[in-house]
Amino acid sequence: MKFLGTGSALPKKVVSNDDLAQVMDTSDEWIRSRTGIGMRHIAVEETTTSMAVEAAEEALADAKISGCEIDLIIAGTISPDYIFPSLACEVQAAIGAKSATAFDLSAGCSGFLFALATADAYFRTGRYKHALVIGAETLSKMMNWADRSTCVLFGDGAGAAVVSAEGSQLLSMVQGSDGAGGMALHCENRPVNNLYRQLGAQHYAFTQMDGREIYKFAVRTVPKAVSEALEQAELPIEDVKYFLLHQANIRIIESVAKRLHQPMEKFPCNLQKCGNVSAASVPILLDNVHKHGMISGGDKIVLAGFGAGLTWGACAVEW
Ligand code: ACO
Repeated sequence: MKFLGTGSALPKKVVSNDDLAQVMDTSDEWIRSRTGIGMRHIAVEETTTSMAVEAAEEALADAKISGCEIDLIIAGTISPDYIFPSLACEVQAAIGAKSATAFDLSAGCSGFLFALATADAYFRTGRYKHALVIGAETLSKMMNWADRSTCVLFGDGAGAAVVSAEGSQLLSMVQGSDGAGGMALHCENRPVNNLYRQLGAQHYAFTQMDGREIYKFAVRTVPKAVSEALEQAELPIEDVKYFLLHQANIRIIESVAKRLHQPMEKFPCNLQKCGNVSAASVPILLDNVHKHGMISGGDKIVLAGFGAGLTWGACAVEW
């Protein structure tokens, strides 16, 4: 696998912690000190599809290939615009990738890593040449805005990467799931409601999180997954230039850095400006790092995601 290009898109509206403090009982000090988040982008005109398309078009331009050359599209998302058709099929139509196979996968904040692993597995069968891998979310529509313990954490956005079957930049891939812990971070879909079971008044379900359980899960699982990815790649940790972790919380990232005995300078972050964008967080950060010229040919980086499912994924890449 080879990375040919990256792209990202964020909604225009920026909402600071102070903005939130004007409409709910919270403060910049509380949010910043516990999470590192200073602001987030919130969709008003944008949708998950519009942001995914914008990120995909940017990635295609960066890769210097056209949509019709893409033969596989995989979107990691937990907040598509439709239950069906999939976000990936919506993107396919928008970019004119007529010969592509397109589908979504649900792996929470590990969505981009899982999509990348799936593209890599397909590449190994020899069936596809160019894949568009996307992470895109409009989490703001899944928040209970009366629940200050969750709604302040999340933001909206999309990230994408064009990858090719040629090349061997992907040095390793580690994935895992623990469904037994799934209720620590969940959002219900529609309940059973039909001719034979009627619920009366309908309600929207919102994201519910046991913050402490998720924190413990993340600091236990991520260092292990990263270490396994390095071992699989036979890559000494000192040779890694950057660790691009899912941007959930600065305290989680600090704890992972400490457990891996690595300096925080090796952990670029954008959660200060974007909040937690679930599956979009890793590809947005990858695009930021790539576009700022922070990585060049031969640099070793590690990508890692963790989240709802529970799920986790980590890989080592030689850029
Ligand atoms: N503003 C002000 N006060 C708040 C807010 C808020 N936004 N939210 C909660 N509080 C209050 C609570 O009501 C509680 O008050 P009380 O003591 O009077 O009852 C107090 O702050 C402490 O609440 P806790 O939930 O115990 O706060 P904690 O220190 O555990 O921090 C946090 C919460 C930041 C969510 C923490 O548990 C955490 O970092 N968890 C990791 C989970 C995470 O990052 N999830 C992101 C999504 S999951 C993912 O991406 C994998």
